[in-house]
Amino acid sequence: MCGIIAYLGKDNAVNRVTEGLKTLEYRGYDSAGLAYISKETIHTVKQVGPVDALVQKVNDLKLPKSNIALGHTRWATHGGITEQNSHPHVSDDGNIAVVHNGIIENYIQLKSDLESKGVTFKSATDTEVIPNLISQFKSENILKSVTEACKYLKGSYAFLAMSCDHPDTIVAAKNGSQPLVIGTVKDAVYISSDTPTLTSKCDKIYALEDAEFAVICPTSVKFHKFGKSIVKKPLAIMASVKPATKGIYNTFMEREIHEIPDVIEAIEREYCKRDLTKLVAKIHACDTIHIAACGTSYHAGLYIARMFERQGLRRVLVHVASELPHTNPIINPRDIAIVISQSGETADTLSAMKTFKNRGLYTIAICNVEGSSIWRYADTALPTVAGTEVAVASTKAYIAQTLVGEIVVNAIMEQPTNFVSYRKAAHEILGHSEEILKVVSENKDMNRIFFLGKGLSAITALESALKVKEITYRHCEGIAAGELKHGTLALVDSNTLSIILTPTDEAAAQKLNNSIHEVKSRGSHIWTVPPVESSLQIIYAQLFALHLAQKLSLDPDKPRNLAKSVTVE
Ligand code: G6P
Repeated sequence: MCGIIAYLGKDNAVNRVTEGLKTLEYRGYDSAGLAYISKETIHTVKQVGPVDALVQKVNDLKLPKSNIALGHTRWATHGGITEQNSHPHVSDDGNIAVVHNGIIENYIQLKSDLESKGVTFKSATDTEVIPNLISQFKSENILKSVTEACKYLKGSYAFLAMSCDHPDTIVAAKNGSQPLVIGTVKDAVYISSDTPTLTSKCDKIYALEDAEFAVICPTSVKFHKFGKSIVKKPLAIMASVKPATKGIYNTFMEREIHEIPDVIEAIEREYCKRDLTKLVAKIHACDTIHIAACGTSYHAGLYIARMFERQGLRRVLVHVASELPHTNPIINPRDIAIVISQSGETADTLSAMKTFKNRGLYTIAICNVEGSSIWRYADTALPTVAGTEVAVASTKAYIAQTLVGEIVVNAIMEQPTNFVSYRKAAHEILGHSEEILKVVSENKDMNRIFFLGKGLSAITALESALKVKEITYRHCEGIAAGELKHGTLALVDSNTLSIILTPTDEAAAQKLNNSIHEVKSRGSHIWTVPPVESSLQIIYAQLFALHLAQKLSLDPDKPRNLAKSVTVE
C-alpha cells in the first residue's frame, strides 16, 4: 500500500529518495512521485506505473541537486490512477508539499471550505486538503502551521510536510494506524513508513506514535505531543534487515518458497534460546484465547487454534480482524489475545489488537517485522524470523507463523518440536517442483480449482485457494470436503480441477475418499497431494500457484489490485 520515504541531509536527496522508493515497491502501488526544493521553489516529478519509470523521468530531467526530498508510492483509494492524483501534493500557493498515508475522512467538507476561500484543487484525492490547510495557517513556525491544520483533520494519517520557506526542515505528523519511523545517521535523516527500509541505513530509529509530531532537520529531530516537547527513546532493533534480492530465482515468491527450510532452521535457533515459561503461565491462567488476523495470517490463526484444541488445551476463538468490531464477541479480562501479522502494520489487525488491549487482555504478537506497530504494542512479541518477505502472496511467513504457534503448544505440552524432520520434509516437497509443473501444464485451462481437505488439511485448503486466487486470478475455493455436497458440488464439471489435500489422520483420509468419488463422477480432474505432518503441505499449493501464474505469464510477485502491507481499514 502507500509508502513514504524522505531524506534531508548533505547527499543528493532525490537520489536517496528514488533508492528508497525502490525498497517500498513490494508493498504494492500504482504510481510514484517525489518533491524537492530548489531555488526556494517546490518541484514535483510523478509517474504512473513502476518506480523505474519515475527514475527514468528523473534522470531525463537532469534535476539540480537538492538536500531535501519527499517521496511516495501511491495505491489508489480516493481518485483514479493518474499523475495528478499521485503524491506529493502541493498547496495551491506552491508553498507546502505533503506525502500522506491513510484516509482523511472529512476531506469533502474541508475541500469545499477551502474552495470557498479561493483555493483551487488539482486532484481528486483526500490528501490535497492537507497542504492547503497548512498553508492557511502559514507562520514563521512550520510546526505550528502543521499542528493547527491537524486540528481540522479527521481520520487516520501519517504525513510529512515541507515548505519552500523552510528548506532545511520536514515536519512529520501521525494519527491512527499509519506507521512512520525516523532514522538518523551522521548529518542526515531518513523518514519512512516502513521500518525495514531504514534498519540497514540508520544508526538510530524512532517510531512516531499517535498524536506526536516531529520537527526534522539534518542534524536534529525534535518530538512534540499536545503542544509540549517530549524525549523519545530509539527503537531497540536486533538486527539490520538486508534488502531482499531474487538471488538465483526469477521471482521473489519462488525464492521465498525455497527459503522455507532455512526459515525452519532460523526459528529453531531463535526459540532454542527463548524462555517461554512466562508465556506458558499466562496461557495456563487464561479462559479463552482470542486470535485475530487477516488474509494468510488469519489462516495461520485457524491452524494454530486447531493445534491448541486438538491437544484440549484451551478454547480458541479466531476472528477475522476486520469483523471484530461488528461481531461483538464475549471477551473477558481473563482471556488473552494472539494477533498474527507478517508485516506488523495491517490496520485491521492493529485495530483488533487495540480493542483487546482496551478490554484489558494480555496480547501476544506473532510477527515478522521487528519494531513494527504490532510488535511494539504487544505485551509479548514472538518473532517469526522468516526474513523480509517481498512477494505479495505470503509463503514462508505462513510456515513460520504456524511453526511458532506449534512451538507454543509444544511448550505447554512440555514436548519438543521436530525441527529436523520438518526441514527434511520441506526439502523433499521442494524436490517435487517438476511434477507439480506437469500437473499445472495439464490443467492450466481449467475454469475452476477446488482444494479439498479434512481436519488440519481443510485449513490448508483455505490457504491454498487464497494463494491461487491472489496470483493466478482463477476461480478457486478451499473446502472442508464434507461440505462439498452441501453446495459447491453444483459447480463441479469436466472443466474443474479438484486438488485433494490428503490428511495425515487415517480416518479423515478414508472419509475424504467419498468426496473424491463425488467429484470424479462429475468429470473433475483430480490431483492428490500426499499427507504431510505439520503445515508444510501448503508448499505443494504454493508451488502450484506459482507455476500456474508463470504459465499464464502473470507476475506472481505483484498481483493486480493487491498490496503487501494493508495500512487502511
Ligand atoms: C495483505 C497481503 C496478504 C497478507 C494480509 C495480512 O492482504 O497481501 O499476503 O496475508 O495482508 O498481512 P499481515 O502483514 O498482517 O500478515
